[in-house]
Amino acid sequence: MSAPVFGRAAPVLYEERVDSTNLYLRRLADTAPDGTAVIAASQSAGRGRAGRSFLSPEGGLYLSVLLRPAVEPERLPTLTPVAAAAVCRAVETVCGVRCGVKWPNDVLLGGKKICGILFESVLGGEKPCVIVGIGVNADTPAFPEELQPIAGSIAAVTGDNVDLHALAAALLSEFDALYALWLSDGGAAVREEYRRRCLNVGREVLAGGRRGLCLGVGDDYSLLVRFSDGAEEALRFGEVSVRGLYGYE
Ligand code: BTN
Repeated sequence: MSAPVFGRAAPVLYEERVDSTNLYLRRLADTAPDGTAVIAASQSAGRGRAGRSFLSPEGGLYLSVLLRPAVEPERLPTLTPVAAAAVCRAVETVCGVRCGVKWPNDVLLGGKKICGILFESVLGGEKPCVIVGIGVNADTPAFPEELQPIAGSIAAVTGDNVDLHALAAALLSEFDALYALWLSDGGAAVREEYRRRCLNVGREVLAGGRRGLCLGVGDDYSLLVRFSDGAEEALRFGEVSVRGLYGYE
């Protein structure tokens, strides 16, 4: 067992409504202790990757953690898979359903995205830090039509309301334990868990208009793909569709 790194020593703040839990922590970046977390019941300006917005009505869980890990800067973005694994574990414990990850970092349940993760570095201020933001569609009531092929909620799959307090507590506890492991073992255990959970592996994928078979996940979290022309490539970024998910037939 690893000792908790942030869960017991740092504050866990709660707000009914904020613009964005990531922005909230960013404003505290110079003063907040390592491991400070904020949970909100809803967000008015939830932020997603690539400048997108993240729908954040009541019923979801919106949580960010501020961390100051003393590791090589290139390792920092691999906190995203740490968070993804923590979400999967917490949802499994609290809701009794198994989740997977669509590369790079969407957590899926029943073929739909139930969680997004936004990793940000805050480098300009007095005390550099990173912020890991996690949004879980737990009891999220409904999604706009354009999101319906992609976004889902835990409650829609289980048919039960989600105990948001229990889910938040489990998520912080799992993230804390996996973060401690990530600090101590260089990320190896989380990478293996990510590989086991990665839904792309062994499936047909579509990347940049080319079809291929996903062979696995590299040590740097690249997606290893053999394209139909025989070329094998390690994809480090970009949109990759997975046959059978998000309406790709
Ligand atoms: C994505 O899938 O594009 C990432 C979505 C991340 C959403 C979470 S909700 C909590 C935290 N606060 C934000 O504004 N964004 C992240």
